[in-house]
Amino acid sequence: MHRYWSKQIETLDPYIPGEQPQDQQYIKLNTNESPYPPSPTVAEALKTFPSESLRRYPDPESGQLVTALAEYHDVDPKQVFVGNGSDEVLAHAFQAFFRQDYPILFPDISYSFYPVYCRLYQIEYRQPALDQSFRINIQDYASANGGIIIPNPNAPTGIALETGALRELLADNPESVVIIDEAYVDYGAESAVQLIPEFPNLLVVQTFSKSRGLAGLRLGFALGQENLIEALQRVKNSFNSYPIDSLTSSVALASIADEDYFQQCCKQVIASRDRLSAALHQLGFEVFPSSSNFVFVRHAEVTAETLYHELKSTGILVRHFKKTRIDSYLRISIGSDPECDALITALHKILA
Ligand SMILES: Cc1ncc(COP(=O)(O)O)c(C=O)c1O
Repeated sequence: MHRYWSKQIETLDPYIPGEQPQDQQYIKLNTNESPYPPSPTVAEALKTFPSESLRRYPDPESGQLVTALAEYHDVDPKQVFVGNGSDEVLAHAFQAFFRQDYPILFPDISYSFYPVYCRLYQIEYRQPALDQSFRINIQDYASANGGIIIPNPNAPTGIALETGALRELLADNPESVVIIDEAYVDYGAESAVQLIPEFPNLLVVQTFSKSRGLAGLRLGFALGQENLIEALQRVKNSFNSYPIDSLTSSVALASIADEDYFQQCCKQVIASRDRLSAALHQLGFEVFPSSSNFVFVRHAEVTAETLYHELKSTGILVRHFKKTRIDSYLRISIGSDPECDALITALHKILA
């Protein structure tokens, strides 16, 4: 027991984010950031932001941003919650919905922050195993539970569930809140947002960190029926009244306004992903069908750990998870075409 620490802190096992080296010498394919800068409208909003307005607190309700997100997703503003990155939105959702009599459920291979929130909020959990081909079996979620969270597409596999499967999951679990974490949905998966009018137990969480190229801004949001959003507001207003600063709101509004640029970036990442997947396959990698901005791969002969270190020594960072079932795989974020080419060239040399 460390001096001054409360008892619970000793038992926490905090999340370890992917490496963020502060020098610029790496090609960073390890944390699923966008290879493209945010829209030029964002640069303009930053340039023209009235700095004198920073002496005021921001709007605690983030009204303008909430209205713009509601319009964009065709929901009511009362069905929108915004937070400091989707990590914060998820944390509030765990606290708001998942402290129940039964354990919550999420896949054995999924976003590694979920068990961290469970320990923080003392929530019991069970992790149904993905099948041999790393797919989620919806029937595994049909038992009594205190809530369900599934990333769609899943991370780090990149594999997506279709709307039919999500509908089945929601219908099978009317007593539980089901959170669909759509951090990567813009790269080809079907969003569950359209199911919100049908299912009062559905909360969809999205982020500006990936497809909008704004990981450094920290903005995430949740969409769901009013009753769920009200619960999130209660947690937020018991924690931090102002999670969204005025600069973030103004930048996010500028990003939402440039739909063409957003679509263009997503399209380009998808095209690069397909090209990279084919090249990796040719080099002897098993490549899972990805609907996200990363690929999950395993080489037939060389271990993931060796490849991770060899690539790092040539200045390319990818992600290797030292975890049961997935320690023989690498997760590689989709870079720009020149970055993907550099990766393929480096792998050719390593595997020669
Ligand atoms: C599945 C998933 N959900 C949520 C997040 C959190 O994203 P952010 O807090 O940047 O919005 C990530 C980040 O990598 C993720 O992979």
